[in-house]
Amino acid sequence: MDLDITFFLLISSLILSFYFIFTRNSNPSKPLKLPPGPPKLPIIGNVHQIAGALPHHAFRNLSQKYGPIMHMQLGQISAIIVSSPRLAKEVFKTNDLALASRPYSLVADIVLYGSSDVALGAYGDYWRQMKKMITVELLSAKKVRSFAGFREQETDQFVDYIRSSCGKPVILRDKVTEMINNIVCKSSFGGNCKQQDVLIEVVDELGKLVSGFYVADLFPEFGFLSVISGMRSKLMKIHKSLDKIFEEIFEERKIRRQRNGESEDDLLDVLFTIKESGGLQFPITDDNIKAVFVNMFTGGTDTSAMTIEWAMTEMMRNPNVMEKAQKEVREAFKGKNKITESDLHDLVYLKYIIKETLRLHPPLPLLLPRECREDIQIDGYDIPAKTKVIVNAFACAVDPEYWDDAESFKPERFDKSSVDFMGTNFEFVPFGSGRRMCPGINFGLISIESALAQMLFHFNWQLPSKSSPTNIDMTENDGATAVKKVPLVVTPTLYSS
Ligand code: HEM
Repeated sequence: MDLDITFFLLISSLILSFYFIFTRNSNPSKPLKLPPGPPKLPIIGNVHQIAGALPHHAFRNLSQKYGPIMHMQLGQISAIIVSSPRLAKEVFKTNDLALASRPYSLVADIVLYGSSDVALGAYGDYWRQMKKMITVELLSAKKVRSFAGFREQETDQFVDYIRSSCGKPVILRDKVTEMINNIVCKSSFGGNCKQQDVLIEVVDELGKLVSGFYVADLFPEFGFLSVISGMRSKLMKIHKSLDKIFEEIFEERKIRRQRNGESEDDLLDVLFTIKESGGLQFPITDDNIKAVFVNMFTGGTDTSAMTIEWAMTEMMRNPNVMEKAQKEVREAFKGKNKITESDLHDLVYLKYIIKETLRLHPPLPLLLPRECREDIQIDGYDIPAKTKVIVNAFACAVDPEYWDDAESFKPERFDKSSVDFMGTNFEFVPFGSGRRMCPGINFGLISIESALAQMLFHFNWQLPSKSSPTNIDMTENDGATAVKKVPLVVTPTLYSS
């Protein structure tokens, strides 16, 4: 959790105290039976219990004491934290519709064009239209397959880069992120973006700000906090950079569409065609389309890139897993000098490795928060409308009641197991579940699989001389995404059969 909060909470406490004392009635007419939770301090509630820690770890530790459903007061935000698969099912299945909204966020308001996107937008008819559009028109299995050429170009370039770096230590993350970002760019706009460096930087920054644990998020009624903490100006800057990039691309495309009337096989063209067809219940604007692209870039870049980095990290820590994976890939593609996507479905063990990586390192360990649209009950406790509901997917994925030797990296556990991440096994929900489930699973997985298959097929990998499998730093960075704090450094050598 970001420590800007500590400083600003101190300054703000006095002002906030007056507000609470003079404006709040602390005697609601009907007492609610809220879930148990740790003791709260005035004003900040439970913020101090997660300050300075990674929220998914802090929540999990607290849940071991206070139970799988906890009430926590995070500044002005009344939040329920769910930490067990049994109760995750209550959120995602039994109460999915009542919990289908997202809480207000300043990030979405400023960067996502008044929350008109799919990921952080509030539930309603407009949102349903946009979610359907993104799922059916942009990220369907067929559409994702149609981008195979882009992925192949990018993975080939990545392999060329690694080949040229053989014998030298390589920081994988930068090149992997560039490859994934190029895939998203080409699928979206048909070519690489002119200002790709800016885009990657901005998406990265946004990933950090979206956590929902900044002081401005915790005290939304006090707009001045977003100003004095610098959050608002950071977000405005990000918004302007992104808008400028998209505006240029859109203008160029409009001119091309008018000039030659040809359709281009990318997502921008799909969206312009839908917009111009006029058949939508809620007509969409350029800004709505830009909001969707911010979702594609933020949702589609870091999540996939960090999964590749964590999978490689786990394989470097577990040389027997690496060896088995290389054997599988090399046997499957013996005699070929190129791997195509259609060959990937044979790589069963690689799929287990990716599942196990997503289990221990879910890129969004707390998923994205839900907001309760009406009063409901979970496990006999009252959850009033407007409460923020957070499912700790990480805690579910390491729950010893559901997983043997839960903290160890063992891809074999998925052999002959029907547990999958498609949203029906609540102990394993790295993509969420229910109405707000990730629509980008196909898009993300195919890039992860093909990048890893190429890396395992063409190269052997070693740790730099001072490292050993047992001392790789596995710490995660702060923020909404569980990116590895210290980038993985590995030395490739060319494999020849
Ligand atoms: C390893 C890859 C990925 C992971 C682990 C992942 C994970 C997630 C998670 C946890 C959520 C929130 C689910 C919930 O609230 O229940 C989500 C939502 C979303 N993801 Fe992904 N994602 C990945 C790739 C992608 C890709 C490639 C795209 C698009 C190109 C994408 C677009 C979205 C969108 C638009 C949402 C919002 C859905 C909604 O609110 O209804 N994601 N993702």
